[in-house]
Amino acid sequence: MKRQVVVATGNSHKVQELSDLFAREGLTDIELLPMSQVIGPLKIEEDGLTFAENALIKARAVYESCMLPTIADDSGLCIDVLEGQPGVRSARFGGPQATDSDNRDAVRRAMIQHGSSDSAARFVCVLCYIDQYRTFFTIGESAGKVVVDDQGSGGFGYDPMFIPDGFDLSYAQMSAEQKNAISHRGRATSEMIARLRDIELGTSSANAHELSRADLYAASAAAVIGRQDVVRAVASRAADEYQRSQVRETLLQTYLFAGFPAALDALATAHEVMGNRMTIDELEPFDAMLFQRRGEELCRKIYGRVYERMMERFEAISPSMRSWMIIEGYGKTLSRPGLSTLERELCIVCMLAVLGRTTQLYSHVRGAIAVGATMHDIAECMDVVVELSGRQAYELLKSTYLSIRPID
Ligand code: IMP
Repeated sequence: MKRQVVVATGNSHKVQELSDLFAREGLTDIELLPMSQVIGPLKIEEDGLTFAENALIKARAVYESCMLPTIADDSGLCIDVLEGQPGVRSARFGGPQATDSDNRDAVRRAMIQHGSSDSAARFVCVLCYIDQYRTFFTIGESAGKVVVDDQGSGGFGYDPMFIPDGFDLSYAQMSAEQKNAISHRGRATSEMIARLRDIELGTSSANAHELSRADLYAASAAAVIGRQDVVRAVASRAADEYQRSQVRETLLQTYLFAGFPAALDALATAHEVMGNRMTIDELEPFDAMLFQRRGEELCRKIYGRVYERMMERFEAISPSMRSWMIIEGYGKTLSRPGLSTLERELCIVCMLAVLGRTTQLYSHVRGAIAVGATMHDIAECMDVVVELSGRQAYELLKSTYLSIRPID
């Protein structure tokens, strides 16, 4: 039977384009389903600051509605003289209802205002894949230059203004085949196909080349108790840039639970083993309003009905701590792309168990369950915790889980 993957887009051209690329690369055991066929139209607010964040927002929204493996994409044009604009705003650079031609006019105006008739630029496409076990991104870039005068009339979007490096033709003057072979979307898709070939979708918790979730739990718990040997062992198993970024992402969030010194030590250990190449999403621009909104949203998702009561309690104890928790904790740190909410919650559960933080552990075990943790997931955390920290932490996690989900 073919494995089904939902494509999180309302645009049937994208589904067709992806299907063509999948077929061309011989990946015929996957059936791509347009989201309209699975859950109908879904209004998704694409308010991320990066392509990866927008792709993640779309993939998560669709995955959470249908619980089927999902791919989403986000793409756009980044122009050097416009300091990376239109970037994530490519589809609406000329206004909320802008057509492709309005968007090109807006770019033309901005470049002319800047005194440039051409500029180095690149198209970027990020694809995000989510299933029950993993979230990952692939990225494709295509470098070239943007010219203010349209050349050719094929393609769509900014195609007539973009001349890829090594060619005298714009994308709008190329055949679809020719463009796909060098385009950002073509490249991101080829990498996605390579990753999908490797995994048995939704049937195994990890493939041979991937770090297991338990590795991430172990790195988290080890970081907060200073077990650099374990951090080093996990970091050395990271086999590619994606896995290395998962380890960094895991260690970054530990500062919320054990402070900067412990997190820095663990990051330094990982750095010795795997280096520190910045990935596209490691530096997010600081936007307190966005973090506030994202934080509240994530907190509500995790804590559900308890959210309001919890906030009142924090407000009474310390209003400053309450807003740091939302903005810094949930909005800035725990909403970052790179790890799913479930992965983050389970890492947190392991950290709190080894730290013996009873109250917070209770909240986060509940939180993990609210975002989909199963008994099996908690058992996996218990295995990590007992190995790293012994019986007491294990019993604490077990009794906390049973107080929430008694087994009859
Ligand atoms: P989205 O990925 O559907 O959000 O669209 C991003 C926007 O970037 C599109 O509306 C286009 O304006 C632009 N864009 C992305 N990829 C291409 C391309 O291959 N050619 C031309 N424009 C593109």
